Amino acid sequence: MRLDRFVGKWAGTGKRRTREMFEAGRVRLNAVVWDERSTEVGKFDRVEVDEEILQAHTPRYVLMHKPIGVVSATVDDEHKTVIDLIEEDWAGELHLAGRLDRSTSGLVILTNDSVFSESLTEPSERVGKVYLVEVDGRITEEVIFAFEKGMWFAKEQVTTAPAQVDLLAETECRLTIYEGKHHQVKRMFARFDLKVTKLHREAIGSLELPGDLPPGDWKEFTP
Ligand code: URA
Repeated sequence: MRLDRFVGKWAGTGKRRTREMFEAGRVRLNAVVWDERSTEVGKFDRVEVDEEILQAHTPRYVLMHKPIGVVSATVDDEHKTVIDLIEEDWAGELHLAGRLDRSTSGLVILTNDSVFSESLTEPSERVGKVYLVEVDGRITEEVIFAFEKGMWFAKEQVTTAPAQVDLLAETECRLTIYEGKHHQVKRMFARFDLKVTKLHREAIGSLELPGDLPPGDWKEFTP
C-alpha cells in the first residue's frame, strides 16, 4: 500500500489533510522524515506519525537448539513450546520454518518473515535438512539404495528427492533430505522395519546448529 493511503487509513484523514501531514514533516519512515507520499510500505517498514508508531515490524530471525520434550508449535495446552523458550515481547509474531517432533532435538528456525521461511521449506528450493539418526537395527545397503533413489509417499503423493546417507556406524547415519513431510525420517526407516531411537537436526541448508548453543538456547541471526 502507498504510504499516504496507509497514513490516511490510520488517521482517518482525507487526501488533503493527509498531504498536509507529510508537508508538515509529521510522517517518518524508518526513523527518517518522509515526504514521498507514493512510497510503497513494506511489511518490515517502520511508520510513525508525530512519533506515534503505526507499524514497527522489525524482521526477526531466530536459530534455536530445540531440546527433546519441547513442542514445535506456537501454542500447546500440555507441553512447553519453542515460543515459550523465547521470553521476548515479539516472540508471538514468530512462526516456524519447519517443525521437529517432540522427541527430536536440534536446529529450528523461527521468523516473522514468511518469504524467508518459505525459501527454506519449499521442496522446489531443494534446501537440505541434515539429521543425525540412530535406529534399532542395521542400516543395510538396501536401505541406503532406497533412500538415495527417492521414496514414494502415497499420502502426500510425492516421491522424495534423492537423499544422501553417510553411514557412521551399523545403526547410525547422517541423513540429508530435501522435504519436510510429517515424520519423514521415521517413516522412511519404518519401511524397513527400523525404529528411529534418536533424531537430531544439525543443519538446514547453510544454517548450522552452533556447537556452543546448548539445548533450549537461541540466538538471532541475519540471513
Ligand atoms: N523426520 C521425523 O520423522 N521427525 C522429525 O522431527 C524430523 C524429521
